Amino acid sequence: MEDKFIIEGGIRLKGDVRISGSKNACLPVLAASLLTTEKCVISGVPRLADVRTMIRMLTELGAQIGVQGSQVTVQARELQKTGQLQQYARKMRASFLLMGPVLARQGEACMALPGGCAIGKRPVDLHLKGLAALGAEIRIERGFVKATARQLQGAEIVLDFPSVGATENIMMASACARGTTTLVNAAAEPEIVDLADFLNKMGAEVTGAGTRVIRIKGNPSLQGAVHTVIPDRIEAGTYLAAAVATGGELRLSRVVPDHLRSMIEKFREAGVCIEEGNDELFVSAPQELRPLNISTSPYPGFPTDMQPQFAAILTTAAGTSRITENIFENRFLYTDELVRMGASIEVTGSTAVIRGVRGLRPACVKATDLRAGAALVIAALKAWGETEICGVYHLDRGYEDLEEKLGGLGCRIRRVTEQAANL
Ligand code: EPZ
Repeated sequence: MEDKFIIEGGIRLKGDVRISGSKNACLPVLAASLLTTEKCVISGVPRLADVRTMIRMLTELGAQIGVQGSQVTVQARELQKTGQLQQYARKMRASFLLMGPVLARQGEACMALPGGCAIGKRPVDLHLKGLAALGAEIRIERGFVKATARQLQGAEIVLDFPSVGATENIMMASACARGTTTLVNAAAEPEIVDLADFLNKMGAEVTGAGTRVIRIKGNPSLQGAVHTVIPDRIEAGTYLAAAVATGGELRLSRVVPDHLRSMIEKFREAGVCIEEGNDELFVSAPQELRPLNISTSPYPGFPTDMQPQFAAILTTAAGTSRITENIFENRFLYTDELVRMGASIEVTGSTAVIRGVRGLRPACVKATDLRAGAALVIAALKAWGETEICGVYHLDRGYEDLEEKLGGLGCRIRRVTEQAANL
């Protein structure tokens, strides 16, 4: 069964939208709950396909899970071997975040190498280099990574690149290693800080999270913790872009403006008016956007997860914009779909040149990954008429209650479930 969205564009979005908990914060926190035999209570967990996949994997590993709305309790008294996880590992790259916690807890872990995806090869060499530095023996056999370690030992680790997932896996493994780990050139995203907060509540001693040097003093007996994950800064940025696409005005509640600093600056540079409260944002869009030059980089730079959404709004800016993607090797697949809607975009190497056109036209388009899907929703909101978006399952991975939230802002959106074409 293939779901698709039908969106009628040209309607100004107005009203209030409450931002959900962060997908990219709750996935590592859920994985980290395996580091203790005691109960962890995690609130603000969004109802997303990727979260359900992570919960299924924790259950397969033997954890007791309770889900009540956005609160998830996890208690992993005993852990099974990771053998039975293989079916999930290829479905979601973030499943690799179980490597560190299971290795730390069990002394061994076996995970399928995550496959590449629409935005690039996405290897895990930095994860494995970090775990090896902590004393793990790593073997790669027939597409699986097998790691064993009798006792993880703190170490000094320098990452070639501030990889978010590698930073998270190393933090979790170090949290119950003997001694102290210093992680240099670490990722500094807010989701890293949130994971550090959770690990500290469990009894680890993590300092420096949010900077490029993180120190983790291990504690072999971590305890249960109660935690609320931070709001989703990429979901918030996506709704800001939706308001801008329709010349609308929105109030976003439950946000941390500082987490969106680089994208707020870019919206303002384009002429968008954004006012900040302590946990809310007010956005009102100009009639026309000024063109922008954007270059993605690790936090606190401009987030790669927002470049497709910005490309969508810049398709009708008053001039030519340039977006350079420095994090992933080919995160411009979605531009072909925007061109089908009348955009003028040329991709050369890692740069997309976007010449502003007068308007977009509705079309039948296909999402190739989560944020590509978000870009197509934003373009559909802008196009006059009905746009059909296939591959909605990508959006269900990362946007909680998308139809309800957009519908509540005046958008005419409906989900159609079709028999899969090959039946
Ligand atoms: C996290 O992915 C996010 N996912 C991604 O969000 C986000 O785009 C990315 O960080 C960058 O910010 C989650 O947090 C679940 P990386 P991750 O390791 O950890 C290369 C979304 O839409 N690399 O920082 O996989 C890699 O190929 C998703 O919510 C290595 O070469 O990102 C990529 O080019 C998409 N070797 C770059 O680093 C490694 O061992 C960034 O990867 C690891 C990564």
